[in-house]
Amino acid sequence: MVSPPPGLPASSLLQVLLLGLSALAPASGAQFQLHVPSGLDQVHAMEGEEVVLPAWYTFQGEAATARPWETLTLMWFLEQEGKDLKQVLAHISGVTTNQDGASLVYPMPSRNVSLRLQRLREKDSGSYRCSVNVQDKQGTSRGHSSKTLKLDVWVPPAPPSCHLLGTPRVGTNVTLSCKSPRSKPAALYQWERSHPSVEVFFAPVLDAISGFLSLRNLSSSMSGVYVCKATNRVGSASCNVTLEVSSGQ
Ligand SMILES: *[C@@H]1O[C@H](CO)[C@@H](O)[C@H](O)[C@H]1NC(C)=O
Ligand SMILES: *[C@@H]1O[C@H](CO)[C@@H](O)[C@H](O)[C@H]1NC(C)=O
Ligand SMILES: *[C@@H]1O[C@H](CO)[C@@H](O)[C@H](O)[C@H]1NC(C)=O
Ligand SMILES: *[C@@H]1O[C@H](CO)[C@@H](O)[C@H](O)[C@H]1NC(C)=O
Repeated sequence: MVSPPPGLPASSLLQVLLLGLSALAPASGAQFQLHVPSGLDQVHAMEGEEVVLPAWYTFQGEAATARPWETLTLMWFLEQEGKDLKQVLAHISGVTTNQDGASLVYPMPSRNVSLRLQRLREKDSGSYRCSVNVQDKQGTSRGHSSKTLKLDVWVPPAPPSCHLLGTPRVGTNVTLSCKSPRSKPAALYQWERSHPSVEVFFAPVLDAISGFLSLRNLSSSMSGVYVCKATNRVGSASCNVTLEVSSGQ
């Protein structure tokens, strides 16, 4: 993480950028605009992979390339519920400082200020705020704005653990449990018996959200290998448990 200057937390830096500057003279000349792709307010990516958060600015009626008069102050912040604002990348006075794994897609100077995040972790999920201030050589603000993109990092289900709850005797009930320790979005669970013959289970004996399978009034023919599969939109993983129904009391 990039540290803000001593005594000035990242959140007040952002405030300086967004509020403080609005007190300055209004931008002269062409209309400044900061853009993110329309309709792209949520970006999804897989854990371990990389993602680009696209953002760029324009001055109406001008070419996309940065002009020699421009002095860019750029910051990318991460906002997460219940956590302090985190500075992910800053480009100030021609110097780029960045958190590990974060970089600009285009070398500066560029009006395309897209952020690349590599080796994504689940905890990189959150709202990324791109904050841009453009000044001319005299130090006059020519435009400032900020835009937010939401990133959701998906994690395939980690191998679940299967357990037998209860004592499997003829005529009794048992529950098979299945739980994956990590999955984003949350995994759904399926149970089937794979041996000696295949049998697939559904609600109400199966609770796909909790992973519990209720087996009632056991008979010896219900013995076998029960396989649970935890699945979400980016992957799946399985475990199994062997049920041996004893006839003894
Ligand atoms: C800026 O770069 C991003 C990422 O490469 C791209 O998706 C976007 O179209 C670019 N914007 C412009 C105006 O070229
Ligand atoms: C097994 O489950 C059924 C239905 O939920 C219940 O009526 C019965 O009392 C249970 N049997 C035992 C031995 O717990
Ligand atoms: C339990 O199963 C046995 C045979 O497997 C059956 O005769 C009995 O009626 C069942 N009991 C209940 C409560 O369903
Ligand atoms: C049950 O799980 C073990 C590993 O835990 C695996 O080697 C075996 O193939 C599984 N059996 C079935 C029927 O899925």
